[in-house]
Amino acid sequence: MLSRLYAWLDSRLKLEPVKETLLDEPIPGGASWIYVFGSATLFLFFLQAITGMFLAVYYAPTPDHAYDSIRYIETQVLFGPFVRGLHHWGASAMVVAIGLHMLQVFLYGAYKPPRELMWMVGVLLLLLTMGFAFTGYLPPWDQNAYWATQVGINMVGSVPFVGTFLVRVMRGGDTLGALTLSRFFAVHILFLPAAIMVLIALHMFILRRVGPAGPWSKERAAQSREAFYPRQVFMDAVVMLGVFLVVVMLALLVPFPLTDKANPSDHNFIPVPEWYFLFYYQFLKYMEGPVLGPIATWVLPGAFIALLLALPFLDPHHEREPASRPLVLGVGAAFLVGVFVLIGLSVRDLQAMKRTDPAVVSGKALYERFGCMGCHRIHGEGGAVGPDLSYVGDQRDRDWLIKHFRDPQSTSLS
Ligand code: HEC
Repeated sequence: MLSRLYAWLDSRLKLEPVKETLLDEPIPGGASWIYVFGSATLFLFFLQAITGMFLAVYYAPTPDHAYDSIRYIETQVLFGPFVRGLHHWGASAMVVAIGLHMLQVFLYGAYKPPRELMWMVGVLLLLLTMGFAFTGYLPPWDQNAYWATQVGINMVGSVPFVGTFLVRVMRGGDTLGALTLSRFFAVHILFLPAAIMVLIALHMFILRRVGPAGPWSKERAAQSREAFYPRQVFMDAVVMLGVFLVVVMLALLVPFPLTDKANPSDHNFIPVPEWYFLFYYQFLKYMEGPVLGPIATWVLPGAFIALLLALPFLDPHHEREPASRPLVLGVGAAFLVGVFVLIGLSVRDLQAMKRTDPAVVSGKALYERFGCMGCHRIHGEGGAVGPDLSYVGDQRDRDWLIKHFRDPQSTSLS
């Protein structure tokens, strides 16, 4: 039945050559579990695209409604928290998958001639993914979103000559506000997806033109040749399923709560970045001042990206065996050790940091014990009899509040 359908389609669409290019691609040295990270990344990209489409159904990209629309997704929409969790953890998983994919390519010297272009397009794909992570942080419009984005924009501002201009383009004005949110959202859901799809297609096109690199040893590569289908396809599919199950578990078990709604006047809020920016966040702490600051915010990141792009030309020897490339692998290993040490230090600092003032904790408990939310609202939760208390701390000082609680009449005229 199926084979007759295939024969029918083949006679109309000439599928046989397509099948040959897609499935019969020879893999030097045969299929291997070490080659799965590229397809895992591609799978996660599709997961992000699909969950993002569903989130966009309910999301409203304006400061007045963004936060509430995410709250609505979290509390009212069927499977809302699950889909948002998939999108959140899918982003993290995508960063991990890209990291492993690059590590494999780096270790195997697969960026070497004739695959320089594939590597360079890959570096651009990494940058686009970082762009997704950065622009995706603002849409929930909570305190963390607002202040972390502020930090990122300030870093762009430190670039000489064009920094101020870039900041204006990103913000759409003098402050982070409604225009910034619509810009970030448009870039996140329209510009970046369009760009990344073109580059993914180019990455795959180059892969099909030059073929996969296979093992580093020429003898092993020459020993056997196996088509992409069926064993490599099977391995890729197993890994995609595994990755999907991990992201589903995270989405179900680890909630990703909103912090308070963004409050542009609260300059004391300390944002915490996503774990994949933590190493850099920690690094910035050691690099303060007029000289070290700019080095950390644009000189080193710029040099790092340039170095990545130029890697195939800086290390062009055809020798791919790790043992004969001690310098390049040593530099790569030193970089990775640095990143993990910084992540460790950052996690230690974050744990030592008092996340909430004890007075705030006991205040919250009292607020609950006396049922204040029966009449008052805080960030949209509670009754409407009394005034909204979300920002009461900005409007009333401690003495006023104590006086108000002791003798409400005394303050009611103010
Ligand atoms: C029965 C309803 C009700 C309950 C319960 C209630 N409040 Fe109020 N609250 C009000 C009303 C009405 C006002 C406005 C009174 C006024 O302006 O004189 C108010 C005013 C306030 C204000 C001053 C707000 C401002 O900026 O003018 C604060 C602070 C406050 N309440 C805190 C609390 C706390 C804390 C609790 C819980 C221990 C609480 N309220 C319980 C009804 C309530």
